[in-house]
Amino acid sequence: MKKIIAVTNSKGGVGKSTTVVNLAALLADAGLRTLIVDLDIQPTASSYFHLSYEAPFGISELLSQNLSPSDQVVSRTSIDGLDLVKSNDPSGSLSTSLLHAPDGRIRLRRLLARFNYDIILLDTQGARSVVLDMALLAADMVVSPVTPATLSAREFIRGMGTLYNDLSPMAEAMGITIPTMRVLLNQIDNTNNSSMVIELVKDMAAEEDWFTVLQTEVPDLVAYKNASALGVAAHRYEPKRPAGRQAASCMETMVDLALELLPEHEETITAYCKTLK
Ligand SMILES: Nc1ncnc2c1ncn2[C@@H]1O[C@H](COP(=O)(O)OP(=O)(O)OP(=O)(O)O)[C@@H](O)[C@H]1O
Ligand SMILES: [Mg+2]
Repeated sequence: MKKIIAVTNSKGGVGKSTTVVNLAALLADAGLRTLIVDLDIQPTASSYFHLSYEAPFGISELLSQNLSPSDQVVSRTSIDGLDLVKSNDPSGSLSTSLLHAPDGRIRLRRLLARFNYDIILLDTQGARSVVLDMALLAADMVVSPVTPATLSAREFIRGMGTLYNDLSPMAEAMGITIPTMRVLLNQIDNTNNSSMVIELVKDMAAEEDWFTVLQTEVPDLVAYKNASALGVAAHRYEPKRPAGRQAASCMETMVDLALELLPEHEETITAYCKTLK
């Protein structure tokens, strides 16, 4: 069964693209057919990996011309099994046309049904927009990275709560259930501030039924930044924990995250891990 994971947060710079590219690369290396769909007007996820084949078209044509999956619209990255629908709408005009089309918010859901992958990861823009609504309505799972630096974790959660409330009636009318949001605590370090934010978010989750907190936490590591500067997947950049460091390696964290999000692929993921030992 295909799974569509939207990585969202209406705040910028919290690690959405980093999560999308690193999780996608790990899953592809484990042997799962994986597609990244870049819905951000800034093509961070699209430009992370070297492309072994660049399709002439991207998200603009896919959404505006109702294209089928083909070499016209699907690029291939240098990682075997990892494909990409690139972002190519720098002016954001797609947003306007989706806003005015009667089927705008559910177009992606309908189009992705034709794509044959194990996992589809949607990278989204750090702002509330019709594109974010469209991603939530297409998703089987919603993952939202939150960092201790997210100006106010409380405000973010309230904001997403409002968004869920606003979208739910429309979704329900169409027979769609918006998935429970799963918060991914990102860039966690040993400071008191990190512990306070973690506690606050967990306390809020205990009171709300529309979001939960993932057990996997992503440490604040320069390795994620270095891997990004080199265009290398984090788990390939740091396969092992450096001697003496407490924080998990990028490989350990991405494997934990993959297992937590996709227990149905546990066998495939653990088999891959065994080949590395
Ligand atoms: N766990 C981490 N440890 C260290 N640095 C990280 C970590 N996660 C993300 N970063 C860094 O934080 C910066 C922002 O990350 P990223 O671009 O993934 O955020 P984003 O949410 O996609 O931002 P935008 O809203 O602009 O699209 C990048 O420089 C990235 O390398
Ligand atoms: Mg991004």
